[in-house]
Amino acid sequence: MTSDLQQLVGEAWAFRAHVEVDAALRFTRLAAAISDFDPESPAIALMRRAAQDEERHAALCVELSASYGVPVETTPHGANDIAPSGLSPRQAVLYEVVAACCITETESVATLATLLEEQAEPRVRTVLHEIARDEVLHGKMGWAHLAREAALLDVTFLAPWIPVMLAGTIDDRLFSPSASQGEPEGLLLHGVLPHERKREVFVRTLLDVVFPGLDKFGVDSAPARSWLAERLPEAPHQPKFEHGAAGPRPREPV
Ligand SMILES: [Fe+2]
Ligand SMILES: [Fe+2]
Repeated sequence: MTSDLQQLVGEAWAFRAHVEVDAALRFTRLAAAISDFDPESPAIALMRRAAQDEERHAALCVELSASYGVPVETTPHGANDIAPSGLSPRQAVLYEVVAACCITETESVATLATLLEEQAEPRVRTVLHEIARDEVLHGKMGWAHLAREAALLDVTFLAPWIPVMLAGTIDDRLFSPSASQGEPEGLLLHGVLPHERKREVFVRTLLDVVFPGLDKFGVDSAPARSWLAERLPEAPHQPKFEHGAAGPRPREPV
């Protein structure tokens, strides 16, 4: 493989290692926070288990990134409470669970599933499989928490915050048409989505899974749909995504 490709792939796995470490800390903190206001919630045990999963994922990502010549030290740096001020502690937890699980974990599952449809190298494939198996549960854990809260509380306050969560989830360049320029060939073989595919998976997952899921539990997806529409390319490219929006058979949240 070329040194460009090796560096890019190594950096991608190193970045994932950081994300996994942060997720482990976040889930540990959220488990404790939920037990303060809803000690009977099944989410508490699930979050604790998820934290352990994320530590395991981090180790796998560290190993892979090092094998591509990019050693990484996983010092936690971004697992702070991301909820805006002005929310109650319980609302802040819900904000964070929706951002971290319903959006991020659901998107992660879609990314991993797409990568697993491709011909990745065996050792990469093994890691993708192991991570995907757990992330499915992490996504479900978030939707289950939202469902439980929606049965007890007014969750409509989340709707205008979903665009903020989405902006926090993506790299700024995701919607930049020039971001794929100079991208090396062969990324998929090493478990990395090329830019165009990354954007396509992100958008499709929002339209097919995340937005319908939010609507189902009473969080209006309209502000998030507007946020997305502002970022999508103008017609004639737009129809590419309309099928998902209209969704003859929108899937249930994972
Ligand atoms: Fe993970
Ligand atoms: Fe996860």
